[in-house]
Amino acid sequence: MSTHPGTAGSAQDPEEIAQLLAVALEAAREAGTLLRDGRPADLEVAATKTSPIDVVTEMDIAAEKLITSVIARHRSDDGVLGEEGASSAGTSGVRWVIDPLDGTVNYLYGLPSWAVSIAAERDGRTLVGVVEAPMRGETYQAVLGGGALVNGRPAHCRPAPGFSHALIGTGFGYLAERRAAQAEVVRTLVPRVRDIRRAGSAAIDLCDVGCGRLDGYFERGLNPWDLAAGELFAREAGALTGGRPGAPASGELTIAAPPGLFEPLQGLLEDLGAWHD
Ligand code: IPD
Ligand code: CA
Ligand code: CA
Repeated sequence: MSTHPGTAGSAQDPEEIAQLLAVALEAAREAGTLLRDGRPADLEVAATKTSPIDVVTEMDIAAEKLITSVIARHRSDDGVLGEEGASSAGTSGVRWVIDPLDGTVNYLYGLPSWAVSIAAERDGRTLVGVVEAPMRGETYQAVLGGGALVNGRPAHCRPAPGFSHALIGTGFGYLAERRAAQAEVVRTLVPRVRDIRRAGSAAIDLCDVGCGRLDGYFERGLNPWDLAAGELFAREAGALTGGRPGAPASGELTIAAPPGLFEPLQGLLEDLGAWHD
């Protein structure tokens, strides 16, 4: 579980953090505009990835190219890890973790819940995160130890409700076997909480916890680019984040919820085996 780890142990240069944030905001806004204004009416699936329903469109690829070109323009020594294949080690110690289009299936169908997610990390710690959700007209930004803002205003998660009154977001992976296990977890959870939401963008789900629009969120099977920026946003907005007890949020399991809800949710997910297929 992570609370506010601060910057102890590796002093961060405030000027560099400000620059990383500015670059992340510029790249996310440009990509968000491209995706919103450039979506072809006849958008089709360009390729599939881990399964026939794990799709990529020409716009995912175009957005990633745009983002990496903005980063290279300002920060040519940094490394990058992008969902659509951008990968370089860099020499500065900073690495950008990029999901150019989180919620591709929503985007393909014309549903509004999709986002651009960009984070900058050093030594595996996320320093800044930006999630741009153009169809909401919202930009979520967070700096490690510096709080979370939505459209420039401070964001805060909701105080924990009783477990039975919690609105919980989740998501499903693209592999049938994993989905079957995830559905079993939801089957047990849904009678015990207010309700479940599956909105289709992990980055937005995490930001929704940080804005108090969801009480909590969990998902197994996320990739670093799905969670890096949103996890920092939720944490900086006052949520606890983590995976299995004692473990950080990861592909094994990611949980975000305010103190008081996080603990019972994490305990139940552990008992239900939400961390394995
Ligand atoms: C997906 C979305 C979805 C989540 C999946 C992710 P993509 O990302 O975040 O909400 O349930 O686990 O893979 O494929 O749209 O970038
Ligand atoms: Ca994603
Ligand atoms: Ca994506």
